[in-house]
Amino acid sequence: MKIAVLAGDGIGPEVTAEAVRVLKAVVGDSAALELVEAPIGQAGVDAAGDPLPQETLAIARKADAILFGAAGVPGDEQIPYAMRPGASLLRLRKHLDLFANFRPAIMFPQLVGASTLRPEVVEGLDLLILRELTGDIYFGEPRGFRTSASGERQGFNTMVYSESEVERIAHVGFRAARGRRRKLCSVEKANVLECSQLWREIFIRVGQEYPDVELTHMFVDAASMMLIRAPKQFDVVVTGNIFGDILSDCAAMLTGSIGMLPSASLAGGSFGLYEPVHGTAPDIAGKDIANPLAAILSVALMLRYSFDRPDLDEKIQAAVSTVLSDGYRTTDIFEPGSRKVGTREMGDAVVAAIRNPP
Ligand code: NAI
Ligand code: MG
Repeated sequence: MKIAVLAGDGIGPEVTAEAVRVLKAVVGDSAALELVEAPIGQAGVDAAGDPLPQETLAIARKADAILFGAAGVPGDEQIPYAMRPGASLLRLRKHLDLFANFRPAIMFPQLVGASTLRPEVVEGLDLLILRELTGDIYFGEPRGFRTSASGERQGFNTMVYSESEVERIAHVGFRAARGRRRKLCSVEKANVLECSQLWREIFIRVGQEYPDVELTHMFVDAASMMLIRAPKQFDVVVTGNIFGDILSDCAAMLTGSIGMLPSASLAGGSFGLYEPVHGTAPDIAGKDIANPLAAILSVALMLRYSFDRPDLDEKIQAAVSTVLSDGYRTTDIFEPGSRKVGTREMGDAVVAAIRNPP
């Protein structure tokens, strides 16, 4: 397993260090692992004068998978795109054509109290939002500012999907559903948008190759409502870039803390980038209080999707579950009566649970 470790900035290095320790513990055989560290974000600027150094990109390309922490510094949106630490991740995703973004939202029963929704709505929740990541209105041309015929300023963007872009994300979605409860809900706005009509047509066509997966369609406004009202009806939700941006954050919050949420971005094959959903959290960086579980669960996704080791994914999930049952909590998921621990101690506890399962 050749893995590029891009820890980045802020809490990135702190949580990534714990994720790497868990990776080593669960794989066991150190000869099976080749970890190559490289700087990205502000760390890239400091080391090589570039937030995405050529050397880092080369290491990422040569790896089987990438473990990413977080990148960015406060106020970096003022810095031009090519030199902006926080933009290094977007550039990396684009370079590597990582078009399929997996965001599982799993409710650990021990954390039901951390959700803002009623326990019976979220208890046992296990859904996967699959977001297309390289197309749609975020990248469509033409875009820009112009002056209308009446002399008014306008800003405009173009929502566009090509058949091949929709086909490839559809296949990823159906295959993911096969590994789960075999239900796929395609979310768009086909009652209004041509782009969505093409999307739906292609999902129906691709779906014929997966007769064992139940395909449903939902308009994005209805889906946003249903995610809050009855989220357990969903298994895999597949949607475009902009709808997925919004729905995935919404689904993420069903389960409590951002410090618990892993993600994977794949390019269609086994190569992928794995990262916690959160950012660099400058407010808590360097204090050993960040929750490392999102980074640790990202390693679990990596073992499943890039290395075809669902058994090791399950081992990590079981260890995280044990640790939560034993009452270990970082500040973000702390409840009175539980046992407050720091980043490192949380990592220690997960490693111990892997070495000595109950
Ligand atoms: P953020 O996710 O870094 O922080 C939001 C809030 O959640 C903060 O209060 C933070 O303390 C808390 N938080 C985040 N992760 C946590 C963890 N593991 N444990 C406990 N608490 C946690 O988002 P924010 O503040 O919007 O962005 C901060 C910086 O991170 C910016 O420079 C931004 O550009 C960058 N960023 C980078 C991302 C990436 O590398 N993928 C994603 C999002 C933001
Ligand atoms: Mg977002």
